[in-house]
Amino acid sequence: MTDFSIQPAKLEHVDQIVGLIKYWAELGQLLDRSQVEVVDSIRDFKIALSTNGDFVGCSSLHVLGSDVAEVRSLAVDPTWQAKGLGAALVESCIEDAYTYDVDRVFALTYQPGFFEKQGFSLANVMDFPEKVWNECVRCPFFSNCREIAVVLELDN
Ligand SMILES: CC(C)(COP(=O)(O)OP(=O)(O)OC[C@H]1O[C@@H](n2cnc3c(N)ncnc32)[C@H](O)[C@@H]1OP(=O)(O)O)[C@@H](O)C(=O)NCCC(=O)NCCS
Repeated sequence: MTDFSIQPAKLEHVDQIVGLIKYWAELGQLLDRSQVEVVDSIRDFKIALSTNGDFVGCSSLHVLGSDVAEVRSLAVDPTWQAKGLGAALVESCIEDAYTYDVDRVFALTYQPGFFEKQGFSLANVMDFPEKVWNECVRCPFFSNCREIAVVLELDN
């Protein structure tokens, strides 16, 4: 039974998105995102709402180059884990990637096993130079990054 819905994010959801990402960032599971960053990329974001209208998760798909996009800021409310919500949010990102004719979707994650369940394969972060040389180099964790790259080749 589906007891949540996934929708494009609106500016009214920014504080909830920032708060949920911060929750997981403080536990070392996600990269923190400022309010300005989330506002800037609001069109990348999807949100999940429970049937009561409660905000219960988010994800974003960011196009990084002519053939590749990144799933980032995937976060499920801790009381909503293990109900299929993370998988549904990733599926929504993949649908968006098809819409944009993207060839490959990747993520950098501490949960590669979750992404493998969604059909992704382990990859080398250097396969995504757009990410490494434009963004990772500015990340405070660059020299000590433990995130694992995963990729899904789309069947366009
Ligand atoms: C990782 C996360 C998104 C998973 O979301 P979720 O809603 O709990 O996961 P789902 O219920 O959709 O799980 C789907 C499948 O993946 C499996 N799975 C979930 N988390 C997993 C993990 N950490 N490792 C391996 N498999 C996992 C589930 O068992 C399920 O398997 P099934 O299809 O055989 O039943 C969620 O726990 C979360 O927000 N974690 C913190 C932030 C984070 O790590 N984000 C990802 C980084 S980009």
